Amino acid sequence: MELTFSSASSTAWLSRLLVIFSLLIFKTTALIKLPPNEMVTGVMAFGDSIVDPGNNNNLPTLIKSNFPPYGQDFEGGVPTGRFCNGKVPSDFIAKELGIKDTVPAYLDPNLKPQDLITGVSFASGGSGYDSLTAQLVSVISMPAQLDHFREYIAKLKQLVGEERTKFILAKNLYLVVAGSDDLANTYFVLRARKLQYDIPAYTDLMLNSATHFLKELYGLGARRIGVFSTPPIGCVPSQRTLSGGIERGCANDYNVAARSFNKKLYAALNSLGTSMPDGRFVYVDIYNPLFDLIKNPGEYGFEVADKGCCGFGYYEVAILCNKWSPTTCTNVSKYIFWDSYHPTENAYRALLRPLLPKYVSKFF
Ligand SMILES: *[C@@H]1O[C@H](CO)[C@@H](O)[C@H](O)[C@H]1NC(C)=O
Repeated sequence: MELTFSSASSTAWLSRLLVIFSLLIFKTTALIKLPPNEMVTGVMAFGDSIVDPGNNNNLPTLIKSNFPPYGQDFEGGVPTGRFCNGKVPSDFIAKELGIKDTVPAYLDPNLKPQDLITGVSFASGGSGYDSLTAQLVSVISMPAQLDHFREYIAKLKQLVGEERTKFILAKNLYLVVAGSDDLANTYFVLRARKLQYDIPAYTDLMLNSATHFLKELYGLGARRIGVFSTPPIGCVPSQRTLSGGIERGCANDYNVAARSFNKKLYAALNSLGTSMPDGRFVYVDIYNPLFDLIKNPGEYGFEVADKGCCGFGYYEVAILCNKWSPTTCTNVSKYIFWDSYHPTENAYRALLRPLLPKYVSKFF
């Protein structure tokens, strides 16, 4: 009798403990809830350095980050080629969807077959919708990223067969993150298009390429496509140094150009969704949340919004930190920017956490 009682109560106690334990796990992984009977097979990314996990590592380009201090907080300090101290948005999104911890580079020589099934990134730091953008810095253009995607599809077919490949292609989530290098580098800093194009004409050129890219992506089988808006590029530390004056304000003309492109992108995505009704072309507004983060860092637990953690601090004009950058800040958690252009892992986290629940239902 005694024995039965005690074992029953210990079972009850154990199950209660398990409930508490699983609640704790649920809380820390913060998985996004999908609609019933829906699934996302993998996360794929195209575009620029915001979602490039190291595709530039073996290219003859200066746009690289596979050396310290990059990656100082990535899996114990690995400079993978991510333009960050830690994880980038594609990693966070795959993790939140419960797919995997990180999305590797398609050109990673150690890529495993399983990674083809759960998602890879084709993005290349320095790339953009305007093909000239990639060409100017010798990185992978968006059409060339699509060529890699075609090669990927052939590999996936060999791995899982024709039917399953079609299914995976349709159930993947595709992230397209580009446009900021077109505006910041090609247009404003290098002035490579400035003589022939004013802002409205140049943002039209970007939009035409973006639309063409998205139609091709759809044509290859993608259906759930999230397109990030351009960020407030006038507020990155390097722009503040170059044209923010003594106050280190945001460069207004850069932000006006970014908003002009975003407005056109928003309208174009809506019309793509109408002409291809089984496709989801989702405009993801990054501009406003990042602008708010930069304007009110304290509200999000940050202290420094106008200079990067690595580099020459207020005097940094280069976008990337390099082997000769003198210092890395003592506490990266206080910084919104890691180098003079790219947010820190913590800033990405603060930015993406509220966005994912907001946007996820739009893909189904
Ligand atoms: C780093 O900064 C964060 C955010 O301000 C703070 O919570 C943390 O305690 C700091 N860490 C150290 C070691 O000072």
